[in-house]
Amino acid sequence: MKIVDVHLSDELFKKFVNLFYELAGISLKDYKKYLVEYRLCKIVGPDKEFKDYESLYEALINDKGGKLRTQFINLLTTNYTYFFREDYHFKFVQEYVKNNYQNEPYMRLWSAGCSTGEEAYSMAIVCYEALDRAVNTYDIKILATDISLNVITFALEGVYHYSKIRGNIEDPLLKRYFYFDKDKKTFTVKEEIKNLVQVRFLNLMDDYPFK
Ligand SMILES: C[S@@+](CC[C@H](N)C(=O)[O-])C[C@H]1O[C@@H](n2cnc3c(N)ncnc32)[C@H](O)[C@@H]1O
Repeated sequence: MKIVDVHLSDELFKKFVNLFYELAGISLKDYKKYLVEYRLCKIVGPDKEFKDYESLYEALINDKGGKLRTQFINLLTTNYTYFFREDYHFKFVQEYVKNNYQNEPYMRLWSAGCSTGEEAYSMAIVCYEALDRAVNTYDIKILATDISLNVITFALEGVYHYSKIRGNIEDPLLKRYFYFDKDKKTFTVKEEIKNLVQVRFLNLMDDYPFK
């Protein structure tokens, strides 16, 4: 996408940075100015919703309903993720679950910025691998939360294009826990895996609505 010919001053960039920090707790360094321009230019420009960055900022400050602020957060959050990122974390979780489930009455796992769901579903897969059939008789739940509504919708669906998965999941796990659609070239997470995961909106800056 081409960055439109609308200037973002350093002063206004700092105001966007402060607002984003206030809303999402994410601090953007000065070198991210280009990234902020690139992402916000989807709604700023001569033929866009806002003719310049000043009017976008004003609208954000006066956004009582929160719809524009949600869009602002969706645009500025970075949702990079993939299955089993990083794999040693998941080896650890698998070992932990395997060695401890008999000693603990229940287990709760949390993917606290879950993006499109890969991390939470990877956790569910390692739980299945660790517990085998016992997963159905044991009280284990995985919570997946994110501030971006775009990624939450994606995570709930649990459908991934093969190009996003290729190389990240071993073939036996793919066969066991996903349905493959040959025409669409997508992998869909099986129900048994989805059933372990609850996907919810949560801003980590707010109070947690659970223990
Ligand atoms: C880079 S992704 C990481 C995804 C996954 N945890 C992983 O490691 O592969 C970071 C995620 O955190 C989310 N995030 C950032 N700030 C957040 C906040 N204040 N509350 C909830 N989620 C937040 C972003 O929307 C994004 O989807």
